[in-house]
Amino acid sequence: MPSGDEIRDVQRATWAGLSAGWEKWDSVIMEQLGPVGAAMIERLDITSDQQHLDIAAGTGEPGLSIARLSPKGRVVLTDLVAEMLEVAERRAMAQGIANIETKVCSADDLPFDDSTFDSVSVRFGYMFFPDMGKATAEFARVLKPGGRLCSSVWVKPEDNPWTAIAMQAIATEVVLAPPDPNGPSMFRCAAPGCVSALYEGAGLRDVAEWDVDVELVARSPEQYWEMISEHVSLAVAALQQVDELARDRIRANAIVKVRAFEQDGKVRVPGVARGIVGTKPDASGTRRRGRAASSNAG
Ligand SMILES: C[S@@+](CC[C@H](N)C(=O)[O-])C[C@H]1O[C@@H](n2cnc3c(N)ncnc32)[C@H](O)[C@@H]1O
Repeated sequence: MPSGDEIRDVQRATWAGLSAGWEKWDSVIMEQLGPVGAAMIERLDITSDQQHLDIAAGTGEPGLSIARLSPKGRVVLTDLVAEMLEVAERRAMAQGIANIETKVCSADDLPFDDSTFDSVSVRFGYMFFPDMGKATAEFARVLKPGGRLCSSVWVKPEDNPWTAIAMQAIATEVVLAPPDPNGPSMFRCAAPGCVSALYEGAGLRDVAEWDVDVELVARSPEQYWEMISEHVSLAVAALQQVDELARDRIRANAIVKVRAFEQDGKVRVPGVARGIVGTKPDASGTRRRGRAASSNAG
């Protein structure tokens, strides 16, 4: 079992390498993941002066959408990888969002005081943390009493053909070792109740899970393959094991398979994510401030 430092080093190198792909395919990725961000924001009770922390913020979502909804508030975007946060800063500037700051740090060791934030979000980050329990304890520590934590993870690969098609094509050429259940991987938190148990272990209450449908929309089967092979962590890692000729065969195989999802001149491949929300107990037992804004994640 690799140490926490070794896991962080691998994740740092992986996501620094993926950052260009995430920036290149920004509009397609954000359209696909937007419904998940919107569903998370809806459960966070965002007000116009929210103090919010986005963990594993990557290229900025859902933190940037929350900053837009909270013009008198402040959103801190954090990630292990500076290159991902640099993309987030460019996206914020392009969208005219100024009430954000960025901080490079690991989810399991946060440089913030206790009870600093009204809410914390973690979209598709949990599965990459070296110690998910320690990270959840950190989220609970920095939340104010009554504040909410909301995260999202992927459900099982069979319900996510948008990645499964690519991984099946790769498996025709590469022997893919089963992922270490205790190590980072895209589907590590797929089991129902996995993240809820972490929330409850950290003392959060009113924990609930729900599913969110997503759809990856590409212009063509060729574009589908290009984007998957340039930004999906599992696929990029597996493709590093093959030569040019094998890569061409994998590409051809994936393109044939994804044609089954062609519709109205586009490729539309479905998937399912799971959202998880919980609340830090308030000593008085009362709920905090009422909600002000409606949500929309971009
Ligand atoms: C799939 S991306 C999610 C980005 C963004 N939240 C979104 O949904 O578009 C996963 C992010 O987790 C970050 N990450 C990996 N390990 C981490 C850790 N230990 N602490 C904080 N972030 C981490 C990666 O750098 C990457 O930006």
